[in-house]
Amino acid sequence: MIYLNGEWMPIEQARIPVLDRGFIFGDGVYEVIPSYSGYPFRLREHLARLQSSLDAVRIVNPYSLERWDELVREVVAGNPWEDQYVYLQVTRGVAPRDHAFPKGAKPTVFMMANPLATPPRSQLEQGVAAVTVADNRWLRCDIKSTSLLANCLLRQAAMDAGAVESVLLRDGMLTEGSASNIFVVRNGVIITPPKTNFILPGITYDVVIELARANRLPLEIRQVSEAEVRDADELWLTSSTKEVLPISTLDGKPVGAGKPGPLAARMNQLYQDYKRTVMRAPAHARA
Ligand code: PDD
Repeated sequence: MIYLNGEWMPIEQARIPVLDRGFIFGDGVYEVIPSYSGYPFRLREHLARLQSSLDAVRIVNPYSLERWDELVREVVAGNPWEDQYVYLQVTRGVAPRDHAFPKGAKPTVFMMANPLATPPRSQLEQGVAAVTVADNRWLRCDIKSTSLLANCLLRQAAMDAGAVESVLLRDGMLTEGSASNIFVVRNGVIITPPKTNFILPGITYDVVIELARANRLPLEIRQVSEAEVRDADELWLTSSTKEVLPISTLDGKPVGAGKPGPLAARMNQLYQDYKRTVMRAPAHARA
């Protein structure tokens, strides 16, 4: 079952007007929230980021935090999969085509769930291929906007090269992946770029940083140069759907030893343990 503007229905029955600004301009924001065994993971954090995105594009949040919380749980409950991800988007609504904001348009709210297929064991054991691509997106990559044409082109560049993700470089510095954040390991230190307008503040990124700190793993949050990316010992990508996934080749060359390194395995274990802990926690204490 999907949710559209206050109604529940099978996805085949869902319709939106062609003048929806999400369709015409990509004028909207979204979230992707993983849910494990019925528990939305880091829901509060996802909803806080949704609020930041809405504020940044000046769409008034149509619902309270409590209402969103309830709706996300209803989407999960209304679908059969053990692990799912909830996709939700809010657009500026339906109005005659004009770039300027319409007066009085009502935001369109759409939510659906899909089965969550986290990376298979083979990918975790062997790592995946990535390629570097110039980051040619706009300067507000911190907004989780549905205007994803640049990200689609960047992801397709990876696909065309037989890789699964593009590692984006802007002015000689690492930013992120086309749909993920990137971590580098050098000499036993985990390094990742800071949250700026050049990257999406990933929820998984935050979890990885928290876990690194809690387990006293050496961590640096700072700009990472292209040269450091190219001779990293390990590279990981992180996202709500890929969790912590090691990259074993970059532009066809091996990363480190050409197979996932020890810190990737460690972080993956910590991440899986953390997920289980959260799922066992009483409802009021759940992240
Ligand atoms: N993408 N950076 C970009 C550009 C992203 O699109 C994503 C996630 C991330 C990781 O964020 P998080 O850890 O909160 O998932 C970083 C989602 C999964 C998507 O668009 O499907």
